[in-house]
This record gives sequence, C-alpha cells and structure tokens, in this order.
Amino acid sequence: AERRLRRMLEHLVAPQLSTVSLDRSVCLSQTANANAAQEDVVYVPGDFARKSLISSRSQYEELYNEAIADPNAFWGRVAAGYFWQKLWDTSKPICNYNFDADKGPVFVEWFKGGYTNVCYNALDRHVLAGHGHQMCFLWEGNDPGQNAYLTYSDVLKKVCQVANFLRARGVKKGDRVCIYMSMICELPIAMLACARIGAVHSVVFGGFSSESLAGRILDCQAKVLLTCSGGRRANKVLPLKQIVDDALQICLKEGNFRVETCLVYDNSFAIPRQNVPWVQGRDVWWQETISQFSVDSPVEWMEAEEPLFMLYTSGSTGKPKGLIHTVGGYMVYAGLTFKHAFDHQAGDIFWCTADCGWITGHTYVAYGPLLNRATSVIFEGVPTFPDAGRWWQIIDKYQVSILYAAPTAIRTLAAQGDEIVRKYSRKSLRLLGSVGEPISPKTWQWFYDVVGDSRCPIVDTWWQTETGGCMIFSLPGAWPMKPGCASLPFFGVQPVILDQEGKEQHGPCEGYLCIKAPWPGVARTVFGDHERYENTYFKTWKGLYTTGDGCRRDADGFIWITGRVDDVLNVSGHRISTGEVEGALVSHPLCTEAAVVGYDHEVKGQAIYAFVSLSHDATPSDALKKQLQDAVRKQIGAFAAPDVIHWAVGLPKTRSGKIMRRILRKIAARQFNDIGDTSSLADPSVVDQLIKGM
Ligand code: WTA
Repeated sequence: AERRLRRMLEHLVAPQLSTVSLDRSVCLSQTANANAAQEDVVYVPGDFARKSLISSRSQYEELYNEAIADPNAFWGRVAAGYFWQKLWDTSKPICNYNFDADKGPVFVEWFKGGYTNVCYNALDRHVLAGHGHQMCFLWEGNDPGQNAYLTYSDVLKKVCQVANFLRARGVKKGDRVCIYMSMICELPIAMLACARIGAVHSVVFGGFSSESLAGRILDCQAKVLLTCSGGRRANKVLPLKQIVDDALQICLKEGNFRVETCLVYDNSFAIPRQNVPWVQGRDVWWQETISQFSVDSPVEWMEAEEPLFMLYTSGSTGKPKGLIHTVGGYMVYAGLTFKHAFDHQAGDIFWCTADCGWITGHTYVAYGPLLNRATSVIFEGVPTFPDAGRWWQIIDKYQVSILYAAPTAIRTLAAQGDEIVRKYSRKSLRLLGSVGEPISPKTWQWFYDVVGDSRCPIVDTWWQTETGGCMIFSLPGAWPMKPGCASLPFFGVQPVILDQEGKEQHGPCEGYLCIKAPWPGVARTVFGDHERYENTYFKTWKGLYTTGDGCRRDADGFIWITGRVDDVLNVSGHRISTGEVEGALVSHPLCTEAAVVGYDHEVKGQAIYAFVSLSHDATPSDALKKQLQDAVRKQIGAFAAPDVIHWAVGLPKTRSGKIMRRILRKIAARQFNDIGDTSSLADPSVVDQLIKGM
C-alpha cells in the first residue's frame, strides 16, 4: 500500500509554487477600490493569481453578472457538464420559485424535468472515462500508521455492493437511511450508495448522544441504519454501536418504531468485535455481508427536484430541522462551488478536515470533490493527537495542496506555537480555506504567515447547512484578500443587507444578511414540515431568504460576516440552539428554569454560559453542576455541554415573561457597566442579584 501511495503521489504532486512573490502591480489593478487601506489588504501571491481558474475581478464580474442576467445560459452550461439521463425541460426557465410567503407556498425548482443521479456523476462518469485508477480517498486513521487508499474504481465497487445490500433489504427510492459512523471511508461510501438507489440519507454526527440520534431516527422514520462498531478520537474510544443500540431502544419505547436493519462496520481498531452489543436478526456485520453482493448495481435515475439527502441542523427554537437538499440543484452547486472556492485543478490533493456529520463534510468531503474527480484526504482523528504536529505531518505525507479547515482548530494549533508547524515542510500547500465561523484577523494572519508561509491565499467561505455550498467567499486569485472578510458573493448569489426596519441598504452599511433569489443549492424544505421552512427562512423579511446572520459591507463592497443575530450559538464551529440546551437543563428534576447565552472564547469562538434557577429545596453544589452538564451531554452530546453554570435566583424578564438575553449576554461577558436599559423588566433588581452572584 505504501508503494502504491508513493507511486500515486509521484503523478499527483501539485506543481511547486515559487516562494513569496507579492506581485502588487498585477493585483492592484484588480481591486475594486484602489484606495482601500493598504494594511487591511493582503495581495494574492502573484504566482497563484497567474495560474488560478478565475484570475481577476473583471473575469469574476462577467460570470457573476451573467449568472444573474441569464441564469438559463449560465446554469444550463454548468449543468451540461454532468450526465443527465434526460435533459431538463429547456422550454421553461431553468429556475422557478416563489420566495414570498404572502403570494402562496414558498418553493424552489431547478432543472425541472431533468433526470440524473449524483452517484453516477461522482463515480461512474469518471470510471467510464478511463479514470478508475485515479486515487479517490487517501484515508488516515486516528493512530499514525493506519491508512487506506481507494481509487475511483475501488469506491464505485464498494458503493455498488452497499447499494445492492440496501436494495436487498427492501430500501426503495425515497426511503430514509440513517448513517451514524466515525470518519472512515465507509461513511461517504454509504452516502453514495443511498444516492445511487435514490434513498435519502440522514447522516448524524458521531458526537451526538443516543437521545439525539433517536430523535432524528424517529423524525425521519429511517428504515435502515448504517454504523460502525466504534470510532477513535485521540485516546478516546467512541462506542458507536452501543449508542446506536441505546437509541434504537428509545425509538421503540418512545415512538413504537423499529429500525429493520442495522449494518455494522467492524472497526476493530476501535473496539474488539466480541465487545460489540448485538441484536440477532436486526444487526449484520458489514464486511462479511457486503462482500457477498455484486460490484455492479444499476443506477436509479432521479428527477432533479427529488430529495438527495436530509441533514438536521439547529435553529433558534424547537427541535432540529431536517433540511432537504435535492438531486439536481445540490449536485450542480456543490460541484461548481468546489471547483472555484478551492481553485481545484488536476494534480491537487484536497483535504477538508470536517466530519461528514456536518454540511461541510457532505459538500466538501463527499460530493464536491468527487463530482470534480478530486483526490482527497479523509482523516478520522483530531489535530492534536498524538501531538500538535499531526495535521502538518499529514500534509507532508500526502502532499496536500489545498487545506480546508475550521477557525477553532486553527486557533487550537496556533496556541501551540510556530515551532511545531515549522518542523514540517508544507511545501505542497498552495491554498488554505476556512469555514464555519468568523475567522479573526489575528488567526487569519497566523494561518497565512505560518501555515501557508505567506505563499498561499486563504479562502474564507461563508455558507450554511441551508445553502448547500459556499455563498460568499474570497475567490482565490481573483482579488486581494482582507483578513477576516468573506468578501464577495459567488456566481448567482444576490446578498441584500437590511436595516432594523427591513429596508434594503446600499453602499457601506451594517445589518441583516438576506439573499434575494434562489441559487441551485438552497434547501427546498424541512422534512415533514414545510410550514416551519417558510416560517424560519421566508417570513421575517418578505420575499427574501433570511440567513440569521448579521454582516457589514465596506467601501469596497466586501461583506464581513459578524455572526448570528438569532439564538443560535456557534461553539467550535458547531451550530447549537440555546433552546435545546435549555430544554436539556430543565429536564433535570431540580432545575426550574434555564437561560443560555454565548460568550467569547479564545479557542472555541463561543462558549456556553447557562443561567440556572433551582427549585427551592435544592442546594447549589459542584456535584449538581456536573449533573446539569451531564444532562446536556446525554440529551444532545458532549460538544453542547455548558462551560459555565451560574446559579440564578431569578432571570431578567419583561412583563410579558420574555427572557431578555441581551442582558444575560452582557453579564456573561462581564460587561456590567454596559447592561443597557432595564426599565422594561418586570423586576429590574434581578440584574444586580445576578451580578452579585458571580
Ligand atoms: C457561521 C457551516 C463567519 C454563520 C458551513 C452561519 C460563518 C453558520 C462562516 C452556519 C464564515 C459559517 N464566517 N461565519 N466563513 N461560515 N459561519 O449550518 O453564522 O453549520 O450562519 O454551516 O456558521 O453553520 P452551519
């Protein structure tokens, strides 16, 4: 295997880039506003810009304008790059939609009437064109020395076997399949197998608890569950199959619902087989069973607007929403954004460090790279195991040329100092990407100077589970970057910034970020609850998609994302609903009320601060704090456990009983002199009591 990898790398090493050459004269002419403060701007290294797919602002503008003025031509051309078993109805507009809930149901349709299959376009298309021998996944396990390398043909065969197994178990087009696995190659393989047969996959991140998993299985009524015996993260073993069994018990007890089949990948690195709990008849071992199935499997041709997958995400209220992405639009958008956000070219080795349990992993570990016939690294472990040099070692080992990561991980590694980074060459890198939360200029600069040796542009990509793919990002090579700024919208994306009253603002401004018209990757509905989809995204501001984020536009027209304007927290890049954490806290018998806010945290970006009121017979103690944190771990997952628990005698409420989180945020941030107006509180003295109780 090592020899095979080395051979493959010889062919795939990215073209070496010459070292730091800041070609300012070339880049200046590309700035919208050459007067922009010099110190705010980092020019794209000249060598990169010369070779990038889009190398100037004017080239970008031409395509951007075309996508809006003539979507039929623009998106028709992009979609034609894929195989369609039947072309969409070209006599009609390529996109049909209604964003205005007052005018009737909100809907979005792209490529209506067309038939295709995402798995076919991600795998078969390349294999049939003679690229089956190309490396597809370079898998690196949690422990150094564990690896697996799969070519496009290897992956196609494995996908077909799983697809055949699912069919044999009665899974049909439209049925839901839940996937709960660690980051092994079988995770994207399972996703593709579903896509192949038209089953709707619902991947649940391996860090979610059995109760969260059960809620998601019940909501989508999954017919089959794909999992693995266990996973490893640093020194920890994740007992995934045990969690699955607990979840399926809950499904039976609470929803009288039985999952028919559970396919279990034997991940003996994590957990020995004999220690895996087993239910005869329902559970089957992956390796033994799958090998009995044929490596050919017919493709289910899907209408463009049929669902491809669902993915749960947290909002400000209620239980998580299962957002539905559809076949045609998602495919085209995932494919095109991957190509341009990462300037992907032949020979690149791409590495997105996200877990497939999140949208970033769906679009930029699984679908986007494969649709572009990329070679990518999949990593099961964490950046700091066995030491903080792991990422840099992996980059050298596989000659990674594009690294796409989350600011929280970058901050963790930056805190370890530069020396450990500099121990590794990192010469293969040519582009760095960031996603999931705002990246501060300081972290940006460290990423740029130290990791990228001031040679690699950084693409800061703003997007959401709902948007399917990147929306606003610094198109690499096309214009100078501003540290911490997502900059300009991708082709076809029309951002609008509203003021408090919902009036569209022009020029430099700050306000609510909305999007005017649909792009192909927008989620089409919430599974089983279209009304919730309309209420969440299309009711706040008439005729617009509401992102839930705030932003600022500067004099160059560049957009800076400032963060959520609703009650969604972003902890280490994980989207967490304050309401869900509060629900878990009050489920503790001694907790009568809870209010959760975020506060700034050096590494996590935001951390969770919970104000908790106890019943009169309870005594605050550290043991009780731990019980409350455990309640959240149990109901949601460890990543959502509050960092701080503040015993609160009362909570600041308006006379109508609404908790004023604005005040709690100030207290959590210890900004006691900046509490603001408290006159509308039912009992303003609560604020002083809370501050005294710190
Ligand atoms: C935040 C992740 C600033 C934002 C792809 C958004 C960002 C939420 C950025 C979506 C960025 C994501 N700069 N903020 N580059 N990228 N966000 O659904 O608040 O997990 O609304 O999708 O993350 O999180 P989600």
